Amino acid sequence: MNTPPLNPALFHLDEAHLWVMHCAEGPVPRAGMRAVRAFMLKELRPWEMSWEGDFQGLPTALRAEAATLLGGRAEDISLTPTTSSGLVTVAQGFPWEPGDEVLAPLGEFPANAWPWLALRARGVTFREVPLWEGHRAGAGAWLSEPPRVPCDPEARLIEALGPRTRILTLSWVRFQDGLRLDLQRLGRACRERGVHLVVDGIQGIGTLPLDLEGLSAFATGGYKGLLAPEGLGFLWTEAAFRQSLAPSGSWLSVEEATEFSRPSTDLDRDWLPDGRALEPGGPNLLLASALLESLRLLNGTGMPAIADHVTRLQARLLAALEGSTWRQEARRLERLLEAGRLGPILAFHHGGGGPDALDRLLKVGYRQGVFASVREGYLRVAFHGFHTEADADRVAKWLDTSTGTAS
Ligand SMILES: Cc1ncc(COP(=O)(O)O)c(C=O)c1O
Repeated sequence: MNTPPLNPALFHLDEAHLWVMHCAEGPVPRAGMRAVRAFMLKELRPWEMSWEGDFQGLPTALRAEAATLLGGRAEDISLTPTTSSGLVTVAQGFPWEPGDEVLAPLGEFPANAWPWLALRARGVTFREVPLWEGHRAGAGAWLSEPPRVPCDPEARLIEALGPRTRILTLSWVRFQDGLRLDLQRLGRACRERGVHLVVDGIQGIGTLPLDLEGLSAFATGGYKGLLAPEGLGFLWTEAAFRQSLAPSGSWLSVEEATEFSRPSTDLDRDWLPDGRALEPGGPNLLLASALLESLRLLNGTGMPAIADHVTRLQARLLAALEGSTWRQEARRLERLLEAGRLGPILAFHHGGGGPDALDRLLKVGYRQGVFASVREGYLRVAFHGFHTEADADRVAKWLDTSTGTAS
């Protein structure tokens, strides 16, 4: 038996709840709950709060821990409430010219579409690129073909970069079909063409190692693979790219903002050169206390160990489906897995069964205590570092014995 790199006992998980949907919402470790409670107890007695330890210390520690996870520098981290707000900060701050273009894969999660579509009034267009033959999204999403090996989504994106493309924005791991994109290859191609690569990282962070080389920005919320409550995440920006963005303009975006011996109303100040220039104001310290615990846990374990474990569980589940009605689908996913094309989500395509079939299947799962999710024609099973081989076998048993499945 393979020991999970994250001890399941650190979470509040039980036999009745096999949670394979951190792609929707990750479970928080008990340490996060203890940290929030301890922080709230201080809020009851504010004289116990410390300026250095809490107001300044917590965000500082969080930026440092986030940087370790990303393999970057703390000064390039901005604490932001959500993935969306990180992307909005980039979209609103970028020095656009009318006629500029943002390129994206077809079918991005809307958190990575609306911030760019909101620029229409400034003359900026948003263009989507299908990533494989038969790829569809939007109203036709359920009619889409799923991705298969061989496929080369990066080549399609690179080929689509045009003379007015300023930003290529994409999800590291796609929310519906689970496809993982090669950020380094895309980053290199973008740099060669003077285009900025902006990444929505929420579906990969916490389960995959990351290399920031070639990226201009990476945004994530904290509540999926990062195993924290909803409402706090972070944005990483490459230093030179950040200098090109308009700052957020919060009172904490400027030098000596908390140097109270200097009048706060003295507005003769420079913007901060680091990531705090893009923060929307004081961060949510309650959530920071929880996210900090989760990041410490993840950094203490390391992404390679978690990624290897998740891959092993995925391979085990897919092998177990060999004799089931999911055989063809399991083989498609096995080939994607072997080609290094997947993140933590195994996305089983409905194969023509439609929403009702997947809905029935989900409900059978709930009755068995298996909690998965469905998005846009795919049944999503997401493993993390705390799952066990027995968990993978239990998912296989559910899929194997349920009716209404795709073949
Ligand atoms: C790819 C992707 N990006 C972003 C989000 C969520 O965005 P936010 O953090 O703004 O809530 C999700 C949620 O499902 C997602 O799958």
